[in-house]
This record gives sequence, C-alpha cells and structure tokens, in this order.
Amino acid sequence: MTNELHADRILIVDFGSQVTQLIARRVRESGVYCEIHPFNAVTSETLKAFDPKGIILSGGPASVTEAETPRAPDALFQMGLPVFGICYGEQTMVAQMGGAVTVSDHREFGRAQVDVIADCMLFAGVWAAGEQHQVWMSHGDRIDRLPNGFRAVAKTDSAPYAAIANDAKQFYAVQFHPEVVHTPDGAKLISNFTHRICGCGGDWTMAAFKQEAIEKIRDQVGTGRVICGLSGGVDSSVVAVLLHEAIGEQLTCVFVDHGLMRLNEADEVVTLFRDHYNIPLVHKKASDVFLSRLAGVGDPEEKRKIIGGLFIDVFEAEAKRVGGADFLAQGTLYPDVIESVSFTGGPSVTIKSHHNVGGLPARMNMQLVEPLRELFKDEVRDLGRELGLPDSFVGRHPFPGPGLAIRMPGNIVPENLDILRKADAIYLDEIRKSGLYDEIWQAFAVLLPVQTVGVMGDARTYDYVCALRAVNSTDGMTAEVYPFSPEFLGRTTSRIINEVQGINRVVYDYTSKPPGTIEWE
Ligand code: XMP
Repeated sequence: MTNELHADRILIVDFGSQVTQLIARRVRESGVYCEIHPFNAVTSETLKAFDPKGIILSGGPASVTEAETPRAPDALFQMGLPVFGICYGEQTMVAQMGGAVTVSDHREFGRAQVDVIADCMLFAGVWAAGEQHQVWMSHGDRIDRLPNGFRAVAKTDSAPYAAIANDAKQFYAVQFHPEVVHTPDGAKLISNFTHRICGCGGDWTMAAFKQEAIEKIRDQVGTGRVICGLSGGVDSSVVAVLLHEAIGEQLTCVFVDHGLMRLNEADEVVTLFRDHYNIPLVHKKASDVFLSRLAGVGDPEEKRKIIGGLFIDVFEAEAKRVGGADFLAQGTLYPDVIESVSFTGGPSVTIKSHHNVGGLPARMNMQLVEPLRELFKDEVRDLGRELGLPDSFVGRHPFPGPGLAIRMPGNIVPENLDILRKADAIYLDEIRKSGLYDEIWQAFAVLLPVQTVGVMGDARTYDYVCALRAVNSTDGMTAEVYPFSPEFLGRTTSRIINEVQGINRVVYDYTSKPPGTIEWE
C-alpha cells in the first residue's frame, strides 16, 4: 500500500471504548485513512510497520488509577509523532508521561461546558481563549498534576484539565469525547489533529478508493471467475457494481429468492442489475426449498442455520453451473474485521449467528474477494454514489440475510408472509410519505404469532398482532428507538388494520439496543 490513498495514515489505539469506531469515522471524514488496533497488539514493531503520521488514543472503560490497566507502549511516545489522547487516552498519556491521575469524587457524564483558557493548534480556527463550548463528558477519573511540558488549554468546573497540550512534542489530549455528535465542534478538532498537527493531506476519497479497488480486484482475480451473492442490500449491490466495472463478464451475480423477501423486492433487484446495469444475474427462485425446510421450525438459531446452509447449497450449485468459480465476492465491511478489545479475555457470547457466508469458501474451495473490507457503512454508501447507483438503492435500510424469517417469531406460516409483506409495505410507504425514510437507520414490521380479539364494524375479529420497529444507529451495534409522533403511529396503525386482512392490532416496539436487538430473532 504505497499509493497516495493510504500514504498519510492515522493509527487509532483502542482501549475498548464503545465509540472508538466513531473516532475512525471522523478521521476518515477528514479525508485521512486510519485503522483501529487494539492496545495490546500495538508494539514498537507494529508501530514502525504501520508508519502513521499521528496516533490517537481512544477512550476506554478501565481506570488508570488501578494497577494492570491498559497502557500504550512507551515506544509510542518516543517516535516523534503527534499523539492525541481522548478520555482514557488522556489519562494514560498523563500517567505514562509522569503526571498524576486520581479517582474523582465528582463524576462527569453527559453534556458539559468547557472554558477555553488558552489557544493551541488543536483549537485553531475553531475555539479561541475566553470562549465557552459544549462537549460530551463521560469519565470518573481526573488529572491532578500535569507531566512536564504540558499546559491546560480548557477546563470545566470539575475537570481543571479538560484539554491539555504539549506543543513541543505535539501531544494533545482531551477529557471529553470529540468523536460524538454531542460535542458539536468535535469533528473539527479531530480534523485539526489530522491536518494541521499531523500534516496529512486529504487523499482518502471514494473516487480514489474506487480506482484503487478496481486495480486490486483485477490483480487478485486475473482471468478467474467470480460469484457474487446479491441480496438487494447496499453492501452486496456496491460489491457487484464495483466488480462489474473491474472484471465485466468474469462476474456472475446470484440472487437467491428464498421466499422471504419483502413486497416486490425480488423484481426490483433483478430489474436494476440485469436490465439497468447489464450485469449477468442468475435469479434463483428457491422459495419452495427454503419454506419446506423451515416448516415447523420455531427456534431462531435453527432457522438461521437452515437458511445459511441452503444459501451454501444454492451458491454451490450455481458455481458448478457456470463452469466453476474461483472466487466468491463478499460485502465484508471494516467493522466486521476490527479486532475488538476484550477485557475478560474470554470468547464473546454469540447473541445470534448472523447469516454471513464466511463459512462458504472452505466448503466451496473458492478464494474470497472482499473489496469493502476497509470501509465503514457510510463510506460504502459514498462509494455506491460514486459508482452511480441510484439514491433509492444507496440509501436503503439494511435488510438481514434471513429476511422475513426473523421478522416472524416462531414457526413460519407461508400464508402469513403475505400479511407481513403488506403491513411492512404500508409502514414504509407512510415513512416515505412523511419524508422520514432517510432519517431512520432501519424500520420494519414484525408479525407476531399471537392472535387477539378486536372489533371491526359490529363484528368480532380474532387476528394477528403486528409490531412496528424503527431505530437509529451508527453501525447496528447499539440502537435507539425512533421517536415517531403519535399522529404518525395512529395513521399507520389505522392503515394497516384497514388494509391488511389478518391484522387487528398494531404495537410500537420501544426497546433500544441493548437490551433488545434490532431484529426480533
Ligand atoms: P441485531 O438484530 O443483531 O441486528 O441487532 C443488527 C443489524 O444486523 C442486521 N442483521 C443481519 N444482517 N444477516 C445480515 O446480513 C443477518 O443474519 C442479520 N441479522 C441481523 C439487522 O437487520 C440490523 O441491521
């Protein structure tokens, strides 16, 4: 990776904060490539090999006041590179440079006002001495004594060192979180670090990425054949169009219609790719196989495994049919490959086995092509626009591989799939009409295996309950409920009950993630 795109790069050392990925996204938004590495994998060798222009130390759940808590390798502070510490990153920088950190008797969580007490490069053009600005705080420890060479540049009532600077070494650190939206100027501070302090250019653009990705795909694939599973989601669509630009007819896309798609979804996908893009596309209608194998299966994990297994069978058959494929393309994203920091050291619990075709290559003897491995979801959308995908596709809400199977808790009753499709279509239609579609990360209807009594006209009804879900999220890892107005919910409820036979009650799911997951299964 010697090209311009990756030449100026920032290393983010992860101490386990929930929002480390947001730091990376802000750095990328500033036009600079970055990677996240767990603190315990950073050594002087890996630092030299990565050759960053600057380093950001993330926040984290630990307290530097306890022994055995994570530290940055000392070599990191001796490389002559700029370092920016955020929250825990500030505390460990201070502790490792000879200052003092103690447990504060006044914890600070949430919005706070910082007083800017001195100018510094981090604030250049954004904040000036004497001003007050909103930031987002989340910390228990506080700095009591600065190491030599540091000065305070901002403070709050309870944190005298809310921001500090060592200008000679180009070390900067903040107690607050500049990466979250609740620190309105945070992105500008991060951009000051990458550009003014580290001297990075702004070479990380999707136009440049696209060119490089096309060259890499050609190098990897040569004259081989590639199979790409198309789900209609943003990631696989972008992979398909990118591959088609790179290798044209060597690509075969397979769209597996498992009978668990939304209303008109299969037609939309096939029309877009086959007719509009002229991409060779196999439309595999496999609903009979999927639905018969799923009959009577109510356990969510069991459903997911059956669907995943059948996907493999279909791909295998299609690979054979096109005379054998050497490569399988996948829409793996950067968040899927980031090694996460585990403080327990144990394996993380499987909440649900996401349908991801990662098990395929071993069985199918194909190499993986994963051109989106370096990208975050919002960057994939930018790349999609760069490739000329219509906005209606690029802005699509995520849709899970197992489709409606995991939006119908318990046994899948094929007749009820149509009920769910109709309710879901009305819900999304109302969302679009209200101009809310792009404001929401994901919205969908769920059909519960529960019938309740109602009254319509003068007659008793005994029909199903439909649950509506809408959440906002940055990466699907956590999510908050979208706060619809009562009018919106009332209008949508009446339309669903009036227009969909089989539903007589609609409820709105008000559970965030955690403790809920986004999908119901
Ligand atoms: P959960 O339900 O785990 O979902 O909170 C987080 C995000 O992942 C999507 N999701 C899936 N996507 N295959 C996929 O491609 C899957 O099996 C799968 N399960 C969940 C979900 O829609 C949400 O965006």
